[in-house]
Amino acid sequence: MERALALLGAGEVVAIPTETVYGLAGDATNGEAVLRIFEAKGRPRFNPLIAHVATMAMAEQVAVFDRLARRLAAAFWPGPLTLVLPHRATSGIHPLVTAGLDTIALRMPKGFGAELIGRFGRPLAAPSANSSGRISPTTVEAVATDLGGRIKLVVNGGATSVGLESTIVKVENGRLHLLRPGGVPAADIEEVVGMALLRGAKSGIQAPGMMASHYAPNAAVRLNAAHVEPHEALLAFGPERVPGAGEVAAMLNLSPCGDLREAASNLFSHLRALDGSGAKTIAVEPIPVDGLGEAINDRLARAAAPRSGIDVVT
Ligand code: TXA
Ligand code: MG
Repeated sequence: MERALALLGAGEVVAIPTETVYGLAGDATNGEAVLRIFEAKGRPRFNPLIAHVATMAMAEQVAVFDRLARRLAAAFWPGPLTLVLPHRATSGIHPLVTAGLDTIALRMPKGFGAELIGRFGRPLAAPSANSSGRISPTTVEAVATDLGGRIKLVVNGGATSVGLESTIVKVENGRLHLLRPGGVPAADIEEVVGMALLRGAKSGIQAPGMMASHYAPNAAVRLNAAHVEPHEALLAFGPERVPGAGEVAAMLNLSPCGDLREAASNLFSHLRALDGSGAKTIAVEPIPVDGLGEAINDRLARAAAPRSGIDVVT
């Protein structure tokens, strides 16, 4: 904690655990710190960052909350929900964080991150602590392997509990747009607000999944596999195996009992491990799309997408 505070105060970046994935944090009010985040990740500057806060008072200084936004914050913060809200011009947040948008993505994390921000006293900008386009890290080892040479401190909080990034919802004119499925199932949000989340392309939205190819392992990824070839690795789900599973050299099961929460927490570490097995293709058994399954299938679809550089999908 003390080393993290000292580095943040000096405008450096620090990798920290949150309940979703590890984040690469820097002082959101310090342009040099924010630039260091973009540089360490190799992230395109037009892709805005999430500002993390510790209290509602800090959040309300940064963004404008209407009744709907307040209800969501009350229900899900601290936790894996990010709200995209109108940005206050007086927030003190450096413009690089929002990439010039008049909205800002805000999240109140749980655990070490919350304590760190509370003691630091200012919001922390923090994207996932991985090289741009790669799989988000859920362990300190994953952060160190990917970014170790480029950052001075990784705070070890063990494996993250949720394992998927936050759900991102844009609150606009009394409506809610689901920009990224994530750690809070969409149905849980809909139940709290009593209305449906709007999905799909909306003109002008800077959606997080702008990069079609994201979360990319080195291996190719084959989704909804009905069988598996002997040379492939298998990412399994549930108690029953597809034909050919007995022949593969590498197999990991996201959740042998078919629990989506367990599957979410294992997704990125299992993908990394199978990628490291040397197989050229990872076949993935079908995973239901309800609850957390929506976010799991979203990440897998990005992992399977063609890798043609920066592929901006509107
Ligand atoms: O769980 C998480 O959300 C993790 C942990 C570290 O908090 N963070 C994370 O950050 O996933 P990142 O940068 O990997 O993803 C945040 C996404 C970006 O893809 C960005 O496009 C989107 O949030 N975003 C940020 N500001 C936005 C805005 N004003 N409007 C729409 N999308 C925005
Ligand atoms: Mg990310």
